[in-house]
Amino acid sequence: MQPNMVNMNKSPNAFGVYVHWPFCLSKCPYCDFNSHVRHGGIDEARFLRAYEREIAQTAERIGARTVSSIFFGGGTPSLMQPSTVQAILDAIAKHWLIAPDAEITLEANPTSVEATRFRGYRSAGVNRVSLGVQALDDAALKELGRLHTAQEALDAVAVARAIFDRYSFDLIYARPRQTPEDWAAELKRAIAEAAEHLSLYQLTIEPDTPFAGLYAAGKLSMPDDDRARDLYDLTQAICAEGGLPAYEISNHARPGAECRHNLIYWRGHEYAGIGPGAHGRLNAGNFRYATETEKRPESWLMRVEARGTGLTVDERLTPGETADEYLLMGLRLAEGIDPQRFSALAGRAIDPNRVSFLREQGTVEFTAGGRLRVTQSGFPLLDAVVADLAA
Ligand SMILES: C[S@@+](CC[C@H](N)C(=O)[O-])C[C@H]1O[C@@H](n2cnc3c(N)ncnc32)[C@H](O)[C@@H]1O
Ligand code: SF4
Repeated sequence: MQPNMVNMNKSPNAFGVYVHWPFCLSKCPYCDFNSHVRHGGIDEARFLRAYEREIAQTAERIGARTVSSIFFGGGTPSLMQPSTVQAILDAIAKHWLIAPDAEITLEANPTSVEATRFRGYRSAGVNRVSLGVQALDDAALKELGRLHTAQEALDAVAVARAIFDRYSFDLIYARPRQTPEDWAAELKRAIAEAAEHLSLYQLTIEPDTPFAGLYAAGKLSMPDDDRARDLYDLTQAICAEGGLPAYEISNHARPGAECRHNLIYWRGHEYAGIGPGAHGRLNAGNFRYATETEKRPESWLMRVEARGTGLTVDERLTPGETADEYLLMGLRLAEGIDPQRFSALAGRAIDPNRVSFLREQGTVEFTAGGRLRVTQSGFPLLDAVVADLAA
């Protein structure tokens, strides 16, 4: 094997397709995702042709695959017409085999308008929805700039429950002025509404967002580190008791109901990124590539129309980079990583001195099966732990 060749034989061959839809009805003041508001509307048919072309070009590059999951993320994919979702799924099926049990998720904003499209998505082949509920408190939803009330979100959850076998919803906690008592009550209510999966994110102040400006001006009272830690611990305890233990730092599921698509990222498997600003990790000709597409929707569209792909980054990863990424992503998971897979990818073992040091600190541990994972008390320090272990 050449020195910078990646031995992917050691990794199981799950393959996912991520499709990014970059439009929203309005921009939430905390959000720095690649999402754009187009008051004049967009030419959905023209965008669809570009998605179809980028899928075809990616398939031509990597060859045959069996797709185990597809994820429509955003932005707000629930603004897409069901016929567009159907056509994108058809394009994927034209070039690759979609596994009969593939997980096909669509991210939806929980408004009544969007819920009316759920049946159409189901007919198109979507079998799981992930709803951005964010809060079950109307004042908090207003502060977060959301366009729905708590009741409207719960109504959308009820529609999702009636139509899809699998659904999840997102909540944001550690919000301004949120007390542990408020959060505990809200979370218990959410668990009662959740079937099998919840994503629970601590509010992060992202640079260059309106929230960053408010925070800098002292107009957002955010919890300090101790309070945030208390809220995190409370979250873990309530979810575990409610039968939804964390399988990733911010994701909770009944055992077996984990989001298979996100597991592809965290387990270091292969995925194609389609659409504006989508990231991918492709294995081609014995190498692993990190890909990124043009973020601005109209520029992406023109690029794809001109050359079949919106790629702006297409970087061959070295074995060390691939292994570090496996470590970085895998340690987010409660199951941790397989040190032997790390060694096979990196061509070297994880530094035993660093592992011993972190074990003594109580932030990492080995499981009975020999996997390395972050401990419950190490999770709030995840970034520091990973930085210590990575080369
Ligand atoms: C791509 S976004 C959104 C999906 C959908 N457009 C929506 O808003 O309902 C995925 C999730 O990231 C979370 N999120 C976005 N920005 C965040 C921030 N600054 N802090 C914490 N969570 C955030 C939200 O929970 C959101 O549902
Ligand atoms: S949180 Fe969702 S709806 Fe709000 S701007 Fe971000 S992607 Fe759009």
